[in-house]
Order: sequence, then structure tokens, then C-alpha cells
Amino acid sequence: MIILGIESSCDETAAALVTADRQVLAHRLLGQEAAHAPFGGVVPEIAARAHVEALEPLIVAALADAGLKLADVDAIAATAGPGLIGGVMVGLVTGKALAHAAGKPLIAVNHLEGHALSPRLSDPDLAFPYLLLLVSGGHCQLLLVEGVGAYRRLATTIDDAAGEAFDKTAKILGLGFPGGPAVERAAALGNPKAVPLPRPLKGSAEPHFSFAGLKSAVARVVGDYPPEDIAASFQAAVVDCLIDRTTRALNGLTVTPTALVVAGGVAANGAVRGALQTLAATRGLRFVAPPLWLCTDNAAMIAWAGAERFAAGLTDPLDTAARPRWPL
Ligand code: KG4
Ligand code: ZN
Repeated sequence: MIILGIESSCDETAAALVTADRQVLAHRLLGQEAAHAPFGGVVPEIAARAHVEALEPLIVAALADAGLKLADVDAIAATAGPGLIGGVMVGLVTGKALAHAAGKPLIAVNHLEGHALSPRLSDPDLAFPYLLLLVSGGHCQLLLVEGVGAYRRLATTIDDAAGEAFDKTAKILGLGFPGGPAVERAAALGNPKAVPLPRPLKGSAEPHFSFAGLKSAVARVVGDYPPEDIAASFQAAVVDCLIDRTTRALNGLTVTPTALVVAGGVAANGAVRGALQTLAATRGLRFVAPPLWLCTDNAAMIAWAGAERFAAGLTDPLDTAARPRWPL
């Protein structure tokens, strides 16, 4: 069984072909960093237009990479939200058109479900239920993943997402866009103990997250310390919050998860991965993190979520709506 996946919910246009037995036959991706960099963030209108230009050639290239024709594909999975609505519409409508023209079923995938199930693409042994820390530019959540379509949200951010805090910190420090990798590079050269920064919500009873206060604190100390020390101290504060909140969620679980899992763009951060790995080890839990390319936005995770849904008999009608907001 072969699934074509389409992703276009933010600033990455992507197409991939993935099989039900976890082979990634092709995955193509075109980032739009250069188009958005002058504005220091993603401009929705520019993103949507770029998806229109990039998507069809990427799908053609992915099919060619895999040596396949559209007729060889068993189903088409496209991100239907949440995300920047113009971009989501481009990908979803393209998926619908291909599904209609080729007579294939459509699977409308929640982008967060793509991230949530992506660790099962790279790790065939990852069984339900697992505790997932989903940390990206738009989301910061702790989910108990109990099965396909069964996600229990234990915590979310009350303001900014962790990736958003990385991006804003990079902007404040003048490190460029996208911010996460730039802050991580600067942090490697700085002292994580140099700058006193807050740990919002650390120790609070519910395992929720908050990062807006941390970002404001960074803005207040800018100029007082070397940017590398601010970056390193900021990253240490984020890691501290993520570990405290994840520990709290683990303590509140009534079932024993098979693993502690991290996914989403911030999972590409070495300090975040390292600290979570240590936490898992102290709890006697397996630690699972997808390879870096599968952590940031891509279409293989959408194709894989499509494969999991298709195997469960879940397909969607061609009048499925694109959704800017869509909680899991
Ligand atoms: O999952 P993703 O590609 O897109 C969303 O769905 O949001 O996540 C992108 C986010 C951005 O905020 C980016 O700055 C962050 O992930 N990110 C990182 C790193 N690489 C990407 N944050 C910290 N360290 C990194 N190495
Ligand atoms: Zn994402």
C-alpha cells in the first residue's frame, strides 16, 4: 500500500511517498526561508503563493524519484489543518483534485497527528500508549497517544509555543530567521548560567507551559550580556521548563507508557533531546525521537499518518473543509 502525502500548512511545501510497511520511497521538500527572512517571520500571503508555485512540481518529482505514477498510489493524504489557512487550502485542494482525477481515496490529516504518529514511522517497535511531547513553532503540548485517532491532551501552552519563543528570541538577539537553529548555534558558544531568566509555570500543579514571560525577560536583558550567553541561558530555561512539565505529566499518568517520545521542530534541538533522554532513563522508559528531518515539517509524516488512518478504514469526503484551527 502506497500513500502520497502533501504538506503545506506553514512555510514548507512538501510531497512524499510512504508505504504501509514504513518505506519512505520519496520525500521532497522546499522551504521558503529566503522569501520570509526579510520580514523576520512567516508572511501568510507570501507562503500561500509560494505553495501554489512549488507543490505540483514537488509531487511530480517525488513520483519520479520513486519510479511511480499517480495510478500506482493507493490513497492521497493531505494536511487539512491546523495552520495558515491559505497554505492549507493549496495542499488540500491539490490533494482533492488528484484524488478525484485518479479515483483514489482522500485522507484529510491533522498536521498535529502527523507529528504525533511520525515516531512510529521511524521506530517500528513504538507501541501505544506513549507520552508525547509535541514541541513546534505553533504548538507545545503533552499528549498521551493511545491509538490512531485517540489522543489525550494532558497539557498545552497558555501563551506562546516553545518554537515561537526560540524564533522571537532569535529576532530580539538579531540572529536571523528561522530562529531555533540560530539560537542553538549561538547557545553552543555561551554560558547557560550567565543570565538569570525565569522558568514560567515551573512547579505548578497542572503540567501546562508558558513562554511569553521568558521572551519578555530576554528582551529586557538584551545589551547587558553577550548574545551567546543570553541564547545559552534562554535555551537552558526552555529545557528546564520542558523537563519540569514533562515530569509532572509522567507523575500524573494512571497508565504506564511504552516510551517517552518527542516530536515537532524543537525536537531537532540537541539540548532538548539530551535532557529528555536523561529524564526517560531516570524513569526506566524508552526514549524515542524521530530523525531530525522527520521532526521538522515534512510530507512523509503526513503520508504516514494517512497510512495509519487508511489501515484503520478512515478516509474523508472530497468536500472536507480546510481548518485554520483544529485541536487534536
Ligand atoms: O514542526 P515545525 O517544523 O513547524 C511547526 O509546525 O511549527 O517547527 C518549527 C519550529 C520553529 O519555531 C523553529 O524555530 C523550531 O521549530 N526549531 C528549533 C530547532 N529547529 C527548529 N528550535 C530549537 N532548536 C532547533 N535546532
Ligand atoms: Zn509542524
